[in-house]
Amino acid sequence: MYSLKELDAIVARAISSLKFVKEPAGLYEPLEYMMSIGGKRLRPRLCLTTFNLFSDDIGPQIVSPAMALEIFHNFTLLHDDIMDRADTRRGQATVCRKWNDNVAILSGDVMCIMAYQYLIEYGGGNLQKVLDLFSKTSAQVCEGQQYDMDFENQPTVTGGEYLQMIGLKTAALIACPAKMGAMIADAPETMADALYDYGWQIGLAFQICDDYLDTFGNANVFGKKIGGDILCGKKTWLLVEAYKRATGADRARLDAIMALGDDRAAEKISAMQQLYINLGIKADAVTTIEDYHARAMQCLEGKGFSAEQVAQMQEFSATLVHRND
Ligand code: IPE
Ligand code: IPE
Ligand code: MG
Ligand code: MG
Ligand code: MG
Repeated sequence: MYSLKELDAIVARAISSLKFVKEPAGLYEPLEYMMSIGGKRLRPRLCLTTFNLFSDDIGPQIVSPAMALEIFHNFTLLHDDIMDRADTRRGQATVCRKWNDNVAILSGDVMCIMAYQYLIEYGGGNLQKVLDLFSKTSAQVCEGQQYDMDFENQPTVTGGEYLQMIGLKTAALIACPAKMGAMIADAPETMADALYDYGWQIGLAFQICDDYLDTFGNANVFGKKIGGDILCGKKTWLLVEAYKRATGADRARLDAIMALGDDRAAEKISAMQQLYINLGIKADAVTTIEDYHARAMQCLEGKGFSAEQVAQMQEFSATLVHRND
């Protein structure tokens, strides 16, 4: 089995050798920009990691699908930044700001198509099953993104609705690579399914962590503007908890903060941060992320994984939930 560091290096090399067609430049330059400004490369790293639990034969049959996952993820971000009115990603201007919304739409579209091209390069006997998983996942991301937008205009959402929304928009695209790597390595179905469940739970942890960092992270490390979710009225883990917990004067304060307009953005962000701290939500977010991390690891219990395989997944998960970016 390779070390996670070695797998990361394989992913980094593969991404830097990707070639994007140059003409028309208006279509492909934003794509190249997006792929070159970094990111954690979590999905291809996860796909290679679960493949490598079962096989050391790392070649194009797994690297191409891993690239497909990263290209697809970047496509979702191009469109997400339009929807979330985001100026900054990975410490750089978003495509919709550096160019415009139309450019981000069309460059995103071509990335989605490219992702399928890279995926079918796998060409293995179970390609149909791999494609089914990928297509199901793609549709789930769209469903989650629609709920995410619908929720912006809803006064409140329940914890269950929130979990369904982040499951679809984020956890699905983490569960998918976890299972896909195992499928391409011809792992037993029960183990591939267990890795899917693991990916779903760690994906929930990952999105709750993203919500947390959007409000309490360091902009220079996180690479996105702090408070963007607050200004959009996003139903984040923090906000859903605030509506659950705030009563009396706290509830009046919450309603007053939510009613502040964009002209008082800085005040709105700092008041909301303070309210989250006062209600114990900041501290509880951290323990909730750990709870989902533990649940993720439980998904692998009793499924026939060796101690070495479990240790590798444990190490991988720790990098995801103990992050600042
Ligand atoms: C951002 O994903 C979208 C979420 C699911 C929170 P990442 O945090 O994986 O983004 P990059 O690729 O590392 O920039
Ligand atoms: C993540 O949603 C889900 C997708 C991008 C599909 P966010 O809107 O929270 O992601 P960031 O914070 O912009 O990266
Ligand atoms: Mg979003
Ligand atoms: Mg966003
Ligand atoms: Mg976010």
